[in-house]
Amino acid sequence: MIRTDISNVFPFVSKENVEALSAELKAAHEALEAGTGAGSDFLGWLRLPENYDREEFARIKKAAEKIKSDSQALVVIGIGGSYLGARAAIEFLKSPNYNLKKKNTPDIFFAGNNISAAATEEIVELIGDRDFSINVISKSGTTTEPAIAFRIFKALIEKKYGKEGAKGRIYATTDAAKGALKNLATVEGYETFVVPDNIGGRFSVLSAVGLLPMAAAGIDIDAVMQGAYSAMAEFSEKSFANPVWQYAAARNALYRAGKTTEILACYEPAFRFMAEWWKQLYGESEGKDGKGIFPASCDFTADLHSMGQYIQEGMRNIFETVVKMEHPNGNVTIEATEENVDGLNYIAGRDLHYVNEQARRGVALAHVDGGVPNILVTMDKLDEHNYGELVYFFELACGISGYTLGVNPFNQPGVEAYKKNMFALLGKPGYEELGAELAKRL
Ligand code: PA5
Repeated sequence: MIRTDISNVFPFVSKENVEALSAELKAAHEALEAGTGAGSDFLGWLRLPENYDREEFARIKKAAEKIKSDSQALVVIGIGGSYLGARAAIEFLKSPNYNLKKKNTPDIFFAGNNISAAATEEIVELIGDRDFSINVISKSGTTTEPAIAFRIFKALIEKKYGKEGAKGRIYATTDAAKGALKNLATVEGYETFVVPDNIGGRFSVLSAVGLLPMAAAGIDIDAVMQGAYSAMAEFSEKSFANPVWQYAAARNALYRAGKTTEILACYEPAFRFMAEWWKQLYGESEGKDGKGIFPASCDFTADLHSMGQYIQEGMRNIFETVVKMEHPNGNVTIEATEENVDGLNYIAGRDLHYVNEQARRGVALAHVDGGVPNILVTMDKLDEHNYGELVYFFELACGISGYTLGVNPFNQPGVEAYKKNMFALLGKPGYEELGAELAKRL
């Protein structure tokens, strides 16, 4: 079960000040549950662990089995909320080196999350002449990056298997009824999975968006949903005993005290893409109306040797949230040597978890002494159940936190600005006037 420890926040904002947010948190939590707050059309994630579509869930597992049986590689095409969750889950629960490992599941390549020729070409090269399938994911069905990638990989798969053969290897995850991808899937006859209308991209990891790639990578998605379900039940509690409240209250109190950047850190490198997923969740949900905590991330201890200086002594507008595993994976003991030339015999006989934990404890104290508040989020161990809990913990905290901040956490109006300029510069029909205007400015 997820626990939070916010005691290292109190040297900066008093316990009373943090707990004084109780009434705001209660109102935010109740507005979420009642669907009376801003963006209430996008609350499908809130009860998803309980009411997800069982028929579709069974189809996801069946499709994953087929992919495992007929493909050595799976190309997952998507960007933002249609990409980060699946990648984070696979790296966290399997490994950042998943593709390099010996396994009976396909390699997974993520495409369509950039417009890089080099990155796209490399995936084509890495697939080589192996059998592969495609899961193209786009809620709107019109996002440029995945649309371009799909055009490229669709041509590749059709060349290899013919149109008919390719059809059975392309899985489209998109809107139930509208969008270019939905139309294409209907015309071509692809198997489709649905991104529910009431779930925004960054909250969609526990829908088919995340679940099909996870299942194809051999992740037990039943256990993921059970973990999310138990978190949903536990975190419905409306009091300060709720770890979600503690996290949401601590970060909002710190924000009001001028701590405007939050660094999410973990001492396990496999967490790196979980932090990328979290950055999108919080950045896109809270960064609007001239407000919002800037979400950043660090891999510890690696980044202590790069960002550590700034964290210790740079501008004092940051706080840290550290995710810790009570029982991490792996078992490596440091052995004694007779010569002790490296001087490490003082930790001989210790396992790396012990050393890592002392690093975490020492860093927390040093950073608190340097003016950086520290929130600790602890999960029992790294497995599917605990992962599901952690996802739900951060999603719920994000909704409550966003309402407490006074924004609509479920829209993203700012994302459109760059798209308009890009379309205009590319000469997309309908953007001629803006194109001429931008050409002058450039
Ligand atoms: O959270 C969001 O809404 C965005 O990050 C989207 O997921 C992202 O822009 C991709 O959109 P789509 O799934 O429509 O291709």
